[in-house]
Amino acid sequence: MSHDTTLQSAPANTTATDGTVELLDQRTGQRYTFAVEHDALQAKDLLQVKSTAGIGLGTYDPGFLNTAACKSKITFIDGDQGILEYRGYPIEQLAERVSFLEVAWLLLEGELPTPAQRASFEQEIGYHSLVPDQLIGLIRSFARDAHPMSILMSAMAALGAHFPESKDIKDPENRRKQVIRLIAKMPTLAAMIARHGLGLDPVLPDNQASYSANFLQMIFRDTPGWTQKPELVRAMDILLTLHADHEQNCSTNAVRGVGSSLADPYTAIAAGIGALYGPAHGGANEAVLVMLEKIKTMDQVPAFIESVKTGKGRLMGFGHRVYKNYDPRARIIKELAEQVFAVTHPHPLLPIAKELERIALSDDYFVSRKLYPNVDFYSGLIYQAMGFPVEFFTVLFAVGRTPGWGSQWHEAMGDTDMKIARPKQIYLGPARRNLPGR
Ligand code: CMC
Repeated sequence: MSHDTTLQSAPANTTATDGTVELLDQRTGQRYTFAVEHDALQAKDLLQVKSTAGIGLGTYDPGFLNTAACKSKITFIDGDQGILEYRGYPIEQLAERVSFLEVAWLLLEGELPTPAQRASFEQEIGYHSLVPDQLIGLIRSFARDAHPMSILMSAMAALGAHFPESKDIKDPENRRKQVIRLIAKMPTLAAMIARHGLGLDPVLPDNQASYSANFLQMIFRDTPGWTQKPELVRAMDILLTLHADHEQNCSTNAVRGVGSSLADPYTAIAAGIGALYGPAHGGANEAVLVMLEKIKTMDQVPAFIESVKTGKGRLMGFGHRVYKNYDPRARIIKELAEQVFAVTHPHPLLPIAKELERIALSDDYFVSRKLYPNVDFYSGLIYQAMGFPVEFFTVLFAVGRTPGWGSQWHEAMGDTDMKIARPKQIYLGPARRNLPGR
């Protein structure tokens, strides 16, 4: 018996977004018509397609290459064109003209804040910026050289225990309050973790300073020779904006997945932090620096590229599931790097990064696979020039991504289509059998 099915396009008088597709099941000769909504089939409709054994047709999609798990109004990406928009606004315009806190409001509320909303939001963030004292003890219980992402994940989970009312996920006002708490507390928590690694006591937040200025001073205040530089405050703010959301990436999917069990948002975001930690996701910013330090000199670049092409590792900071073109965030960061190095010092590894990019963008291995620099390729160079330890880079990503995680969670909890995340599997293990007699 043939197991082929043929998908045939809908007649020309139907559009891609509201038409139908017809499926001919060559196993049974039966034809089915499926509605297409937003260029997607409804996976459950396929269950009508029964095999002779009566089993409905499923889909197999490891890594969700072609599966939409939700509908969202927050972030749009066109990976072929290299376009990223938050609530319809291009990332280039937001990075240039809007502060990170305004972007956070935009993601959460759907529109940019009015001046009055902006002022009250800043006040609200300031009001919630302290973290419970018990977390200082928790952070101190970690070794000084523990990875900051491990500490952050634990601290985030612990934070949930302090706000039991966050379990009331049905109340939109309560959800909004938790997201604001998360945005407000994240830099305080991150700074406490950075200072723990340096053997320093935490610094209290300064609610008169901007979000990014406060964040930088909570980390660096006692560093000999450190002064607050407006150019670096602005750079920090832009970097946070560039990381603020990225639709259904691995960590956001983790947040939505855990959230779908109706867990509180701190627990869901702790899971997101875990997903972000991996080097294929947010951990790539740290991995890029480690890679550049290993390459060390320009003459080693060609040999490194060859080793990648022969499968001995990946060019970290390159490639993306969605972007098959230059990541628009990487373009902004590359320009920003020059501005930052004008006030810090030129990063000695920048020429190596540029040479890797130059070779990769003209090499058939990378060109044919559409591998371009992503957000993580140049960001670490800026972070290091600003004085952040390499292991802390992914925490910076997490601080930026918090409004995105929170807004996506808020949206998911209000979505009447949401169901507990529970994929199918294709079982290939032993058929039912009896235990051997003893
Ligand atoms: N270096 C070398 N080859 C690569 C790379 C890379 N960075 N990325 C993908 N490829 C190759 C891969 O070997 C495969 O080749 P082939 O078809 O011959 O087997 C092909 O390109 C497709 O790769 P894939 O792993 O199937 O693609 P994916 O969409 O599942 O993975 C990715 C996307 C980001 C995990 C991957 O490109 C990667 O590992 N990049 C390096 C890590 C990195 O920079 N991650 C940050 C991503 S952006 C920010 C974020 O999400 O946090």
